[in-house]
Amino acid sequence: MVIRGGRPLRGAVAVSGSKNATLPILMAALLTSEPIVLHNVPRLRDVHTAIALLEGLGATARWIDDHSVELRVGEVRAHEASYDLVKTMRASFVVLGPMLARTGRARVSTPGGCAIGARPVNLHIAGIRALGARIQLRNGYVEARADRLSGARLWLDNPSVGATENIMMAAVLARGLTTIENAAREPEVQDLARLLTAMGARISGAGTHVIEIEGVERLHGATHQIIPDRIEAGSLMVAAAITGGEVTIENAPTAELDGVIAKLRESGAAVTVDDRGVCVSRSAPLRPIELRTLPYPGFPTDLQAQMMALLTQAEGTSVITETIFENRFMHAPELQRMGADIVMKGATAVVRGRSRLSGAPVMATDLRASMGLILAGLAADNETQVSRVYHLDRGYEALDQKLRALGAEIERIPE
Ligand code: EPZ
Repeated sequence: MVIRGGRPLRGAVAVSGSKNATLPILMAALLTSEPIVLHNVPRLRDVHTAIALLEGLGATARWIDDHSVELRVGEVRAHEASYDLVKTMRASFVVLGPMLARTGRARVSTPGGCAIGARPVNLHIAGIRALGARIQLRNGYVEARADRLSGARLWLDNPSVGATENIMMAAVLARGLTTIENAAREPEVQDLARLLTAMGARISGAGTHVIEIEGVERLHGATHQIIPDRIEAGSLMVAAAITGGEVTIENAPTAELDGVIAKLRESGAAVTVDDRGVCVSRSAPLRPIELRTLPYPGFPTDLQAQMMALLTQAEGTSVITETIFENRFMHAPELQRMGADIVMKGATAVVRGRSRLSGAPVMATDLRASMGLILAGLAADNETQVSRVYHLDRGYEALDQKLRALGAEIERIPE
């Protein structure tokens, strides 16, 4: 991606459906033999990977229009999610719960580590074991068996999004009551619970730290509208602030962005919320802030890289503490190549500003880091080339087109 910076972004844009809501929701199709119809599905590489995984297990998928898909798993024909698939998209590990609940057996590759951290799946495994599954780890695979899972009360050592989703999907067809304590509260977990409830599941407390699931005999088909992507919305809000422009994000899920709005206002951006969405503008210099990433409703780790790019433009010293992933500052050395002044100490990065960023060839290391580099390119002098943008396509739909519609000089160059 080639960006020529220095132009304030102006205009209105709409965000796509949420990637992180869509992925577990697609896996829920395994829980019934009836069709699931999903609307507002983002056309992303990860979504296509998830559908290919499900088709390999026996699903049929039919795109009704550009953003609506009908999925049906009439019969589960295979029980394995291979390493080749899981390593490309670790979110596919949440196939374990629904497959085990539906068929009583599953063989799923463990995802292994990734650029941002070790990302173990011990909480997923402990939770599903607590529901009575017999689980063995063999040859890099989780092999699970259960005649019928049984409800249990379990505590998550930390409110893992993926573990909450996996356990929830295992528990909906279990015998009796499951209580997940210290559950993740993310909007994506809530959206999955909405779909499962529409399929006939009995779930209460989604969005709180205690989720209760009363198992049922069977689930039926359903139709569901995926929530808008709060991380894409947050990224575009930062784009308006870093370029000193004025952008309205029409369908931004503002109720899910309180922490983001608060930090942008603290840094000097003007943020107005109305029933159309959110409008972000900035004319005054940016102010330094302290930022700590936390589980929802705290500040999302998936917007940390974007905010780091913004804070290189603040008049003073900001401090960012990453509490979720142990290796999520890979974008910082690339920002330093553009002239940013950032010092990293363990989980903390000290960002001194205001740095005059100059365009340079930089390399994306993961999805959100790539967005951070593109935002820095929008604020930099001259030209920035961001390579490995395949990371970006995993989580942002037609981002270059959306930014161009707001006046950015950005184009995709084949690598
Ligand atoms: C989800 O990942 C998101 N991915 C991530 O977004 C997001 O960063 C993360 O939640 C936190 O908000 C999807 O929803 C597909 P976790 P997930 O389990 O579920 C540790 C993006 O950019 N942990 O909540 O994998 C883990 O190592 C992606 O879109 C265990 O120790 O995150 C991490 O430190 C990146 N054992 C912390 O918990 C476990 O069994 C939070 O991870 C599970 C997790």
